[in-house]
Amino acid sequence: VSIYVIKPNPTKQAGQLNGMLHMHNPEILDMLAPAGFRAYFPSDGILAQAKKAGDAATRAVQNGEKFYNATIGTTLDDNGQPLVYQKTRELFEAMEIPLSKGIVYGPSAGLDSLREILRKDARIERLGLPVITHGLTQALSDVAALFIDHETAVVAHSFFWENIQLQFQDVFGATLITYPFFNKARTGFNFEGLAEAMESAHKSGFRKVVVYLNFPNNPTGYNLTDEEGQQLRTTIWDVMRANRKMHTVVITDEAYYGFSYDNATQKTIMSYLVDVHPQALVLGAKGPTKEANVWGLRVGALFVLPYGMNPKTINTLNQKLAGVTRAIISMPCVLSQEMVEQVYLSDMFMQNKKEINAVMARRATAIKDAMTSDPIFAKTMPLLPFNSGYFCSFKVRAAAAVFEKLLERNVGVIAGCENNHPRFGGTEVLRYAFSSVPESGIYRSLEIMADEIRRHESCRRLQPVKGMTSG
Ligand SMILES: Cc1ncc(COP(=O)(O)O)c(C=O)c1O
Repeated sequence: VSIYVIKPNPTKQAGQLNGMLHMHNPEILDMLAPAGFRAYFPSDGILAQAKKAGDAATRAVQNGEKFYNATIGTTLDDNGQPLVYQKTRELFEAMEIPLSKGIVYGPSAGLDSLREILRKDARIERLGLPVITHGLTQALSDVAALFIDHETAVVAHSFFWENIQLQFQDVFGATLITYPFFNKARTGFNFEGLAEAMESAHKSGFRKVVVYLNFPNNPTGYNLTDEEGQQLRTTIWDVMRANRKMHTVVITDEAYYGFSYDNATQKTIMSYLVDVHPQALVLGAKGPTKEANVWGLRVGALFVLPYGMNPKTINTLNQKLAGVTRAIISMPCVLSQEMVEQVYLSDMFMQNKKEINAVMARRATAIKDAMTSDPIFAKTMPLLPFNSGYFCSFKVRAAAAVFEKLLERNVGVIAGCENNHPRFGGTEVLRYAFSSVPESGIYRSLEIMADEIRRHESCRRLQPVKGMTSG
C-alpha cells in the first residue's frame, strides 16, 4: 500500500497570493491568521476547470458543434437540461425560475451579476465586487477565518450580537475587549471608549487588533448620525496616527442597513471608513438578508474597501475569501441568489423598500409615543437611545427572570445583557423586535412589560435581605 502524507500548506497557490500581498500590502500579509495565510481558491481545481469547459461548450454550440461536457457532478438529461424530480420542476415553474439558472452549481464567490447589483447598491466610489456569503453570518466568519486567531484582540462595543462571541472568541480563539456602547450621557456613541479600547488592545501586546462595529445596532437599534459617522473616521484615524506600529482590520456589520428613523445616517458606515487610514484594512458586511427582507434565503455580501490598496490586493483577498467559501460550503446557494437578484431588479424594488421602511418607522414612533404617554413606562423600563434597525432595548433588572414571567403573559422578548451575560457586568436589557410586532400591538405589549417589571421589582423588595431575619 502506498501511503501519502500531504503536508500542510502553504501550497504554491497560497504562496502566490501571499507573494502578491507581500509585494503590494505587506502589512495585510502580516495580519493574516494561520488559516488566512494558507487560504487560496484552487484556480486549477474542479470549479475552475468546469468553468473553462463551460465557456468552451458555449463557443462550440455557437459554432454549431457538439460538446461533450463531462466535468460537473450534476445530472443532465439527453437535452442537456437538469434532470430533476417532478416536484422540483413544478416548484421552479411556479417561481418562474428556469432550472438551468436556479438549480445548477455556481461560483464560490457568488454570481457575478448579483455581485455587481450589490456593488452598485452600496453606492461607494471605486468599490470592488463583494463576495457573496451565506448571510452576513458567513461574511463575519470569513473575516475571522482570514484574520482572527488566539493572537488577536477583537475590540467590540458592548451590546454586540451574541454570535460575535461564539464566532470570534469561542470558535476562532480571539480575546474580546469591550467598551460601553453609549457615551456617559447616553446621548450617542462612545468614541472615547472605542479609542481607549483600541489603544489598550494594541498596548497589551496582542499581535493583531480587529475592530468590530455594528450599526444599526442589535440589540439597541442605535445608528450613528452623519456627524458621528465623521467622528468615527477621525477617532480611528487619530488612534492609528498616535500608534504608528499599529495595524488593524476594521469590520463593519451593517446587517440592518437602510432602516433609519429620526437622526440616523442614511449612508453606509463603510462610506465613512473608505479612506480611514492606510494601516487600517476595512471590510464591510452588508447584504440582502435583512435589507431586502429575505432572511432565510441566506444571501449576504462581504466588501473589501479599496483605500490604500492596490487593486491586486483586493483581488487577492477576494480569492482567499472565495477559497474559504469553497472549503466550507463550496458556494452560496444559487437559487437564493437568483431569487434575490430578481427582487433587486424588480420595478417594485424601491417602492417596496419605501413601504416597508414606512411600516417600520411607524412602529418605531409608536414605541416612542408610548414611552412619553405615561411616565411610568420610562420610570419602569428606560428605553435606550434608538433611531434605526429592527430592535430597541429597555433597561431592566433581572432580565432573564422577567423574560420567563412575560412568556406567561403572552409577550416574548429577548433577555440580554450589555456584555452578553450578566456575569461580565453591564446593563441588562429586554430586546424588543418591533420588526415583528404589529403597530396595534405595541402599546399593549409595552404595558404588559411595564406591569410585569413593576410586579417583579416589588417582589424583590419584599424578599428578606440575606443574613437578616424578616418579621
Ligand atoms: C448584528 C448582526 N449581524 C449579523 C447578523 C447575521 O445576519 P444573517 O441573517 O444575514 O446571517 C445578525 C442576525 O441576527 C445580526 O443581528
